[in-house]
Amino acid sequence: MNILFIGDIVGKPGRNAFKEHLPKLKKQYHTDLAIVNGENAAHGKGLTKKIYHELLENGADFVTLGNHAWDKKEIFDFIDDAKQLVRPANYPEGTPGVGLQFVKAKQKDVAIINLMGRTFMNPLDDPFQVIDTLVNEAKKKTNIIFVDFHGEATSEKQAMGWYLDGKVSTVVGTHTHIQTADERILTNGTGYITDVGMTGAYDSILGMEKESIIRKFKTGLPAKFEIPETNRTVLSGLSVSIDDKTGKTNSIKRILINADHINFD
Ligand SMILES: [Fe+2]
Repeated sequence: MNILFIGDIVGKPGRNAFKEHLPKLKKQYHTDLAIVNGENAAHGKGLTKKIYHELLENGADFVTLGNHAWDKKEIFDFIDDAKQLVRPANYPEGTPGVGLQFVKAKQKDVAIINLMGRTFMNPLDDPFQVIDTLVNEAKKKTNIIFVDFHGEATSEKQAMGWYLDGKVSTVVGTHTHIQTADERILTNGTGYITDVGMTGAYDSILGMEKESIIRKFKTGLPAKFEIPETNRTVLSGLSVSIDDKTGKTNSIKRILINADHINFD
């Protein structure tokens, strides 16, 4: 099972880069399932129904979210009907949407889990406790389990990776928007990267227009963040090859495409 994951799509430049590069990446990596983090896909914050469907039409099979999941209020109108979408599982009970969904790829069930860290983030339920329950539930159906752990702190993401080593197929970190070069297979067969990075405007600060953010740092005053209009983009991703029976990751490849790097085979 080959899973391609594309890191946080930020606004229109991110959606354009995704649309442009996805077909050749899927071909290159013989992708069976393409997952994308879409929490910043609608103008940098949140996800609309239209953009959710646009991502699916442009080749995504599944969309994950994060702390910005709720920024576009219409998410509340469609999240419960969206079957190719997960939000962080460790929100309190009663929160709309789900944190674990199953999809079919190559006639096999794949479990996709979204979780959020708590270090330097808004407090949520303990992701380490929540994941135990979710893994048990997923294991009843499949050994192929893919986790998007949306978090700020490297240490918390590494801890989750090692905690899940041998229990799930792959753990990808998202949220910081900067790709880390530490992709690896942990000792019990779980693929891991601390952060996949983002897909969006290249000459930007984390995908947003840089001038207003520099002004914010210089003045300490609040600033409105805008998405730059640009064709200079970055796409960040990861492709993993997973053993269909054992659910272990056999190989892992980091993908970074921008004006200074073309990092894919
Ligand atoms: Fe985030």
